[in-house]
Amino acid sequence: MKDNELTTINFNAETSPPQKPKESKAGFNAKLAFAIIAAALGSSFQHGYNTGVLNNPQTLIQSWMSSVITNRTEGEVPSQSHITMLWSIAVSIFCIGGMIGGVMTGYVADRYGRKGGLLINNILVVVAVILEGASKSAGSFEMIILGRFFIGINSGLNAGLAPMYLAEISPVNLRGAVGTVYQLVITISILIAQVLGLNSLLGTEDLWPTLLAITVLPSIFQMFTLPICPESPKYLLVGRGKEIEAQRALTWLRGPSVSVQDEMDEMRAEYEASKLVSKVTIRELLTNNSLRIPLIISVVIMLAQQFSGINAVMFFSTQIFMEAGLTAENASYATMGMGSINVLMTIVSLVLVEKAGRKTLLLIGFSGMGVVTLLLTFAMSFSKEAVWLSYLCIVLILAFVIMFATGPGSIPWFLVSELFNQSARPAATSLAVATNWAANFLVGLGFLPLQDVMQSYVFIIFTVIIVLTVAFIYKKVPETKNKTMEEISAMFRQQSYQ
Ligand code: GLC
Repeated sequence: MKDNELTTINFNAETSPPQKPKESKAGFNAKLAFAIIAAALGSSFQHGYNTGVLNNPQTLIQSWMSSVITNRTEGEVPSQSHITMLWSIAVSIFCIGGMIGGVMTGYVADRYGRKGGLLINNILVVVAVILEGASKSAGSFEMIILGRFFIGINSGLNAGLAPMYLAEISPVNLRGAVGTVYQLVITISILIAQVLGLNSLLGTEDLWPTLLAITVLPSIFQMFTLPICPESPKYLLVGRGKEIEAQRALTWLRGPSVSVQDEMDEMRAEYEASKLVSKVTIRELLTNNSLRIPLIISVVIMLAQQFSGINAVMFFSTQIFMEAGLTAENASYATMGMGSINVLMTIVSLVLVEKAGRKTLLLIGFSGMGVVTLLLTFAMSFSKEAVWLSYLCIVLILAFVIMFATGPGSIPWFLVSELFNQSARPAATSLAVATNWAANFLVGLGFLPLQDVMQSYVFIIFTVIIVLTVAFIYKKVPETKNKTMEEISAMFRQQSYQ
């Protein structure tokens, strides 16, 4: 973007601030709900389910892997460390796929559209499910690893495309609540994976391939429902210049009784403005002042979400609960309790996000997590000395999840879409989502070795990161509640001139 162009837009923004579209009064309706469910259920399910699915059947699948190798080598039993290594690869390659999918988001969102991209992405689910589902009968654990890689790419793409679609189809006053649905489905699907993986259900020697393959169901649901929904009107008009199609899509989403005129005017203005500037590339994101600030915010929030340590708890809670003194059976029930609390609290945050705002919920959530991790460190250090301290550890872990679900869980996913206008959103989403998956990968890989070294002090690392995050949010993150996306980017343009 050239400087004089920025000035023009900035000048306009100052002299005639964009009007709140009348659509801010547009409420929820059945068709909008249908589009939200079609987009979110089919896509964030993959992200959540495959995050949780390998937890319970770990021992079963590991011993199958061992027997496959023994058969191949005619009786040579592989060492435990060999199996552990294969297992870590199978678990973590999901996040590598996620990073790749994240990077691809911008291209796919521009080229095929948000809805189009989501639909095409289902091909990867089918491929992954065939590989994982058939791995046992084919006697190949490599197929699980490859399947996890493909479902990872799929989930990375979903994590970019679905929140973008949700943010772009929502009326301004519901954008945060609708965006939270992405995280809500993640939490529900992690819980479903935890429950189905129990050995009284699908976590058995014969049924684990079905457990892995079940992830195709929401994808089939999406292939039938999403085609009925319209493409994002913003993409159609601002991205493609298709005014009539955009109006039709918006009318479908808002219902026949709501006037879409104001919203169309706002998009038209953005379309005109976007004609003056070239498509934003990743290089430009890094060098243009008005884009750099929101980019830093997006990346920091994504890093903070993962480095808060949430997945250390999501992946290893059963083990942590056992160390705190629970039996194996009770520990897996406690894990499910934790999963349920995550879902319930995400529902609460869905309601709160349009009232309290994004910034407040991020501050409350991260501050609470900071306090909890500090207390957890003390409780874990002395847990051997008194029984009540080990129960306190369990309570604190639940409190940690409650605080996470208050805001840090859901807000980062849609905040990126809110901080950028149409031309920069895809590239920014690519970077932010890839960062999230990279950090997720590092926590998954690094937590257990770090715990070996630091013992009960391991959570202190998270405390430090969280404290820095809170200071950053307090100083830098703007409140985006009830602001149009154009208002928000105009605000950053203004800031970059101060
Ligand atoms: C967020 C995180 C994800 C985590 C989940 C837990 O979606 O991005 O990594 O597993 O929350 O609820």
